[in-house]
Amino acid sequence: MSVTVRVPAKVNVQLAVGAARPDGFHDLANVFLAVGLYDEITVTPADGLRVTCDGPDADQVPLDRTNLAARAAEALAERYGRSPDVHLHIAKDIPVAGGMAGGSADGAGALVACDALWGTGAPREELLEICAELGSDVPFSLVGGAALGIGRGERLTPLEVGGTFHWVFAMAGRGLSTPAVFREFDRLGEGTDIPEPVASGELLAALAKGDPDALAAAVSNDLQPAALSLFPELAGTLAAGRAAGALAALVSGSGPTTAFLVRDPETAAAVAQALVSSGTCRTVRTASGPAPGATVAAAG
Ligand code: C5P
Repeated sequence: MSVTVRVPAKVNVQLAVGAARPDGFHDLANVFLAVGLYDEITVTPADGLRVTCDGPDADQVPLDRTNLAARAAEALAERYGRSPDVHLHIAKDIPVAGGMAGGSADGAGALVACDALWGTGAPREELLEICAELGSDVPFSLVGGAALGIGRGERLTPLEVGGTFHWVFAMAGRGLSTPAVFREFDRLGEGTDIPEPVASGELLAALAKGDPDALAAAVSNDLQPAALSLFPELAGTLAAGRAAGALAALVSGSGPTTAFLVRDPETAAAVAQALVSSGTCRTVRTASGPAPGATVAAAG
């Protein structure tokens, strides 16, 4: 008996960041779009809790109880008064520490997979509550599609998307720590008045219309200056993608993955090729969105 759940990566088409709160987190207006790069989490009954991982970046994935997949299994088991005796296997395709919610995807995937394996039948609201405890981006990994996240980013409103958006993603040679990027955001903003984060009406309209030119004009990421400050070479990657014909180029979330919005799959292939040739990144992937959230792909 095993269950496999497929979970998408995300790109933030808008990431508006407010001032640091007393709890250290930042209020956000976070417009998430799930894209078709997936991790697959397979759970199988075992004697105790064990995590394994394969894929190109597998050596960078922690296999102890700090892994969000392990924490998700423990959280669900605790609520239902059972032991988290499962082998969690992560087939990892989402870049690690890349700003594409790869760790969050594994948390959401493990939760849905354990719920199915154990027959807990937890209500969706409860699963979303556990997701929010695991991390700010985890609820979105569960729901997928497109959504506006407020609060820490965990309070979601689903958004209409009127078409398919095509993307190229450039993975950097090293990761960036999300807390470090937020700290740099605080440092850069010291002494300035940081406005309340609000979702852009133009951006939501562009998503609803499925209009890539309008979306390109409206994308924004308040963490981008902080990510560039910690990782200045990313400016070269952004410039290479723009020069190759991307409609918009931005850092994905806290980075260091850079995201390039393109008009169609043909342009995606050309921009991907140009980015590889530029030598400004480690690898390049293409994907489109919106993509569905955590979904049971196989059970038996
Ligand atoms: O919620 P999550 O564990 O993913 O957050 C990781 C880190 O990112 C937090 O410890 C915090 O430093 C930063 N963060 C933040 N404000 C948010 C979300 C994350 O400052 N809304």
